Amino acid sequence: MKTAVITGANRGLGAEWVSQLLEEGWHVYAGYRSEPGRLVSLEHERLTTHILDVQSNESVEAFAEHAPNKIDMLVNNAGVADGRWRNLQEIDEKWALEVLDINALGPVRVVKALYEKMSHSSLTRVAMISSLMASIDDCHIGRSYAYRASKTALNMFTVAMKKEAREDNITFAILHPGWVKTDMGGDKAPVEIPESILGMRHVLSTRTLENSGEFIQYDGQILPW
Ligand SMILES: NC(=O)c1ccc[n+]([C@@H]2O[C@H](COP(=O)([O-])OP(=O)(O)OC[C@H]3O[C@@H](n4cnc5c(N)ncnc54)[C@H](OP(=O)(O)O)[C@@H]3O)[C@@H](O)[C@H]2O)c1
Repeated sequence: MKTAVITGANRGLGAEWVSQLLEEGWHVYAGYRSEPGRLVSLEHERLTTHILDVQSNESVEAFAEHAPNKIDMLVNNAGVADGRWRNLQEIDEKWALEVLDINALGPVRVVKALYEKMSHSSLTRVAMISSLMASIDDCHIGRSYAYRASKTALNMFTVAMKKEAREDNITFAILHPGWVKTDMGGDKAPVEIPESILGMRHVLSTRTLENSGEFIQYDGQILPW
């Protein structure tokens, strides 16, 4: 049976990844930071949950230790926003560093900790949940400084690690979920959660060692860096 690991799985996009993958017959190992939230209603014999704070090496290591021994998919979904409309003078340095720590380094910690369990004879697909707001080419309206920078850094971490990982049969997709109706995306977002996840699942399923590291939207559109 194929096994997927999902971070930030108690609500929003993460919980829907869990729901759709269970429907599809996957074994799912899901991380939640403090409250299991929607994971409670998704209870299933193929679902295992574990506490995970991607900011803490200790927490990531304990999560990895309890993970199944062979992992076929990892969705690095956990992330935080940074107070979108703050202007330059309002940048809170302490919070900005936290945003960078969670959004850019968090997924790297998880990849490092699960690496041995992901490297095996069959291909492992890793989704790094980024954002169009990471795009330097597309940054026309500015603001959201720390969030943008954190996701741009995540993109570079991923592109930089893809070569090393290719030798170990691991491929990456850098995914933009669309602007989605979640707590983070808000009510005005045009994309519904199930549509975003359906699209990202399809894009992830088309990953090979050759196309590793592409920056792609949930509907398959390649994004500018
Ligand atoms: N929604 C959008 O329009 C949109 C657009 C582009 C990219 N994204 C990205 O998509 C991903 C999911 O976003 P979403 O819209 O589903 O957001 P959300 O509803 O705010 O959910 C965020 C999830 O991340 C978890 N999380 C935050 N910090 C964490 C930490 N330190 N360790 C572990 N888990 C942590 C949260 O856990 P708690 O419940 O404990 O806080 C929650 O489960 C994020 O990476 C986000 O940047 C979203």
